[in-house]
Amino acid sequence: MTSIASLITEARKARHRAKAPYSRFKVGAALESADGEVYAGCNIENASYGLTICAERVALVKALSEGAKKFVNLAIVTNAKKLTPPCGACRQLLWEYCGNIPVHMSNTRGKVQTLSLGDLLPLPFDKRSL
Ligand code: THU
Repeated sequence: MTSIASLITEARKARHRAKAPYSRFKVGAALESADGEVYAGCNIENASYGLTICAERVALVKALSEGAKKFVNLAIVTNAKKLTPPCGACRQLLWEYCGNIPVHMSNTRGKVQTLSLGDLLPLPFDKRSL
């Protein structure tokens, strides 16, 4: 098992690998699976802006493609004074594959706030809605 502090450290390290030449807003994420593995991601931008992939989704697809199935914690790090929550698209994807996990938002000043994904995405559209 990974501590929340180490998960945040992994997200912070991933943030340095962000490809964000257009927004200059670098994001790092780290997703912990139930077996204690950590999958990190950073945002990857493109000259065709709409093709940008958020850090959280990079971490999630890495984890899923490696066979991880159950997730227990997500950390997100930016350098914004106001902590950065996952965008709406990421909340939807994360809900589908991670369920109601704690989301630990942090910044490079060391501020941390934790909210559950369920609180971030109330009334989700998911398979129960189909
Ligand atoms: N971004 C993320 O990677 N995650 C978030 O939670 C919010 C936004 C990225 C997308 C884009 O590269 C940049 O931040 C500015 O929106």
